[in-house]
Amino acid sequence: ICRIAVLISGRGSNMLALVRAARDGAIPNAQIVVVISDRADAPGLKLAAEQGIETLVIERRGRSRADHEREIIAALRARHVDLVCLAGYMRLLSPVFIEAYRWRTLNIHPSLLPSFPGLDAQRQALEHGVKWTGCTVHFVDETLDGGPIIEQRVVPVLDDDTVETLSARILAEEHKAYPAAVARVVRGELRLIGRRVISKS
Ligand code: GAR
Repeated sequence: ICRIAVLISGRGSNMLALVRAARDGAIPNAQIVVVISDRADAPGLKLAAEQGIETLVIERRGRSRADHEREIIAALRARHVDLVCLAGYMRLLSPVFIEAYRWRTLNIHPSLLPSFPGLDAQRQALEHGVKWTGCTVHFVDETLDGGPIIEQRVVPVLDDDTVETLSARILAEEHKAYPAAVARVVRGELRLIGRRVISKS
């Protein structure tokens, strides 16, 4: 069984999508064993607890980025975590974390990367005037939202969209794309050639 940790900072809707997918078999042989937030007030913590999942708050509290991450890594190791899913975790990870969980850390981002990395991706897409955007699930490496891409879903930008309506349309795809990508990783279906993530067979 693949033991998964989800790191959040806020709402936790992608976390919940992963929990449900693992429960109903859409992600086979996987279990979400812990949800960790860097913010005590993250609404997702309550959602995770309601699902009977262990929750931890590990705040940075003035420490160095590396010391904060060392505490997270210790919590992950204590729980024998195999795979880490960032789901609205709004902190950059340093090489300390990346090296500890390289190829075992995934992230979801609300744009078609490499367009619109960083904060407010949906607003960036609207302001740029693109007609299509979407979401991306990728491996996390040292670059900002730049690691090898596992899965992308496309969403239209409509004339009367606001950041809110566009974000909601993207989010619905995120909730499908993330479990699908995690399932492929857990099944060991993927291999990496250069920057390209492709199927083994
Ligand atoms: C999601 O849209 C996710 O793609 C985005 O934050 C939201 C979290 O929602 N992540 C980023 O922008 C990362 N740079 P959620 O807490 O309901 O899953």
